[in-house]
Amino acid sequence: MSKISEKIRYVGVNDLKTTAFEGMWPLPFGVSYNSYLVMDEKVALIDTAEVDFAAEYMENVRKELDGRKIDYMVVNHMEPDHSSLMALVREAYPDVRIVGNAKTVPMIRGYQGVTDNIHVVKDGESISLGGSTLTFYMTPMVHWPETMMTYFNEEKTLFSGDAFGCFGAVDGEVTDAGAMLFGSTAAAENTFAAFREEMRRYYSNIVGKYGQTVQSALKKLSGLEISRVCSTHGPVWEKHLPEVVGFYDRLSRYEGEKGVCIVYASMYGNTASAAKALAAELDKRGVEYAIHNLCTENVSYAYRDVFKYDTLIVGSPTYNNDIFPPVYNFMYGVSARLVKNRRFAAFGSFTWAGASVKLLNEMAAKCGFDLVSDGLSFPQAYSPDKCDMSALADRIQ
Ligand SMILES: Cc1cc2nc3c(=O)[nH]c(=O)nc-3n(C[C@H](O)[C@H](O)[C@H](O)COP(=O)(O)O)c2cc1C
Ligand SMILES: [Fe+2]
Ligand SMILES: [Fe+2]
Repeated sequence: MSKISEKIRYVGVNDLKTTAFEGMWPLPFGVSYNSYLVMDEKVALIDTAEVDFAAEYMENVRKELDGRKIDYMVVNHMEPDHSSLMALVREAYPDVRIVGNAKTVPMIRGYQGVTDNIHVVKDGESISLGGSTLTFYMTPMVHWPETMMTYFNEEKTLFSGDAFGCFGAVDGEVTDAGAMLFGSTAAAENTFAAFREEMRRYYSNIVGKYGQTVQSALKKLSGLEISRVCSTHGPVWEKHLPEVVGFYDRLSRYEGEKGVCIVYASMYGNTASAAKALAAELDKRGVEYAIHNLCTENVSYAYRDVFKYDTLIVGSPTYNNDIFPPVYNFMYGVSARLVKNRRFAAFGSFTWAGASVKLLNEMAAKCGFDLVSDGLSFPQAYSPDKCDMSALADRIQ
């Protein structure tokens, strides 16, 4: 499991305990915190792991080192899921030299209380481990300001931090040819597709706002020959690497596939009936869609499918002359993620004075979405004559 190549060893851990990543995003298949050793005459550790996994992590490192010491600890990203064991690693290996860029320095001090033995690298700078060379590329705002990536020149391997990462603990082998998604019932041939959907969810939930800086990073790295990507979450990409890079490129360009993401919430079921009527009309027309009820499901999945499809249809009842709060929160998140190039329509029930549809349209217009309908605002119970989902389906098919 741990040997990626003669010189690269996996020392990360699987987290099957945390139910919500960042306290928000569900983890039905867990998540992995990946960390790697590059071993030559000198040894470099790339990132660490989450603090709750200290004992398991330190044992993984100790086993792979087999009595050797760590010379360098490379910090690609200071988010605590990868950096919170730095001080502990230093305690165990006091001579280790931390390698990071200027922006990591105050973060290392602030999080880990460490101020000395730090080697600050600039964009394009390298260190030698003997026969192996590590070169550092600054990739700011993917998705923190200090993020950088580490390229192992001789093995054409990119240690990419959170980029190309996905939710889901990795079972079986760590490389994608043999990796399985922990606890997934997907057939073996669908394993990659299952990981890819968890990558879409990770990207849309966490990195989604930073499409432009991800694009800059992809451009910057396009001159490198890359045959393996070791990210901080999910499998090591080798076999599926071209697909993964293309997928990430499309995600960061906010390119939607043909299809519809229906997102709604409902107190008494009236807006829900309209949502289901739209789904039935799309079914009739053979249009691909996903439907998400924000009252029963975490918003994480709705964001995933906002990034997946080119059309977004949102339903909300009017609530205190406003958008129903779960739907407002969702739309705020769509807007904060700077989602672009979507077709949009809104619908929803009210009782005495409808406001939600008009306000949703305003939010969508601010996002620059193409409004395909004025919106379908209807009083009290849903019925096709009050809210013509057939006509809407005709327009978006
Ligand atoms: C707390 C609360 C506030 C509401 N505020 C408004 C309102 O400002 N304007 C309005 O027309 N209807 C208002 N309604 C009525 C709902 O919009 C109406 O019941 C609608 O049919 C609910 O749709 P749903 O069944 O999809 O939840 C309110 C209802 C509740 C419970
Ligand atoms: Fe991160
Ligand atoms: Fe991370």
